[in-house]
Amino acid sequence: MNLKKYLQIRQRKIDRALDGYLPKANTKPVTLHKAMRYSLFAGGKRLRPILCLAAAEACHGSIDNALPLACSLECIHTYSLVHDDLPSMDNDDFRRGRPTCHKVFGEGIAVLAGDALLTIAFQIVSSAKAAPRYDVAILLREIAVAAGSQKLIAGQVADLEAEGKNVKRDQLQFIHENKTAAILKSSVRLGAMSANADPKKLSAITRFGQRLGLAFQIIDDILDVTQTSEILGKSAGKDVAAKKATYPAVIGLEKSRAEARRLTRQAHNALSIFNNSDAEPLHALANYLLEREY
Ligand code: IPE
Ligand code: IPE
Ligand code: MG
Ligand code: MG
Ligand code: MG
Repeated sequence: MNLKKYLQIRQRKIDRALDGYLPKANTKPVTLHKAMRYSLFAGGKRLRPILCLAAAEACHGSIDNALPLACSLECIHTYSLVHDDLPSMDNDDFRRGRPTCHKVFGEGIAVLAGDALLTIAFQIVSSAKAAPRYDVAILLREIAVAAGSQKLIAGQVADLEAEGKNVKRDQLQFIHENKTAAILKSSVRLGAMSANADPKKLSAITRFGQRLGLAFQIIDDILDVTQTSEILGKSAGKDVAAKKATYPAVIGLEKSRAEARRLTRQAHNALSIFNNSDAEPLHALANYLLEREY
């Protein structure tokens, strides 16, 4: 399959849908809606929504049914980046190839733009079409839990609290599984749910997403050490500077690479119950995430 083309087509589809869901930039309060759009349409890779759509297709669902869920995931992800970059958190100036939201709009508006991106995610899910096995309440709950105080936010708390500390491997894994893998796992789960996946397929997809999600954050850690800011579109080298708990810091670069490869292999294996053509995009996405340069 032509992955480049595949990614491009889906990115466009997702961007169009997001544009339709978000209030126009001239909607009052104008500063807020401009800030939301500034961060959302800054050129993210759209991996979570693309994974959501790919999981739906692997389970013979339709892209249209998965699309609201996919968009909602991107809104949550973008909110988490806007807040992650704040001076009181990772204090970053550069994101998605441009100055961070708070650099352009000020901290107050960046906090509020994050709040509004998080909130609109639930509004978007409320417009999703239910599947026989999964009603809209189940879909809402899936996102709420993954973005909530015991998953994404728990990971962010642990990440902040681990700065400058000598963290053990299991604590590091806890941080990464929660701050990042939880949303990636829910991305594929929601795609599968929109396709009315049976319990066996949903659990295979869940395992795939969990392994892939952990590998994803390990690779993010590696790229922070090995890549330039220009290529990343965000500041490189910031984890060492902030004394963050990362895989390269705790187990070294080579072992981190090996761990990402091992997890990616496990992600592939989790899909063994799917026939090859159904799962081909998910396999290709897993390889792409492992080999990506940004
Ligand atoms: C960056 O995520 C933050 C992490 C959770 C590691 P992405 O690498 O998916 O960032 P964008 O969406 O492409 O900007
Ligand atoms: C971000 O992790 C995780 C979330 C935003 C939930 P990082 O702090 O490593 O992400 P980058 O490197 O700033 O993109
Ligand atoms: Mg962070
Ligand atoms: Mg950060
Ligand atoms: Mg990082």
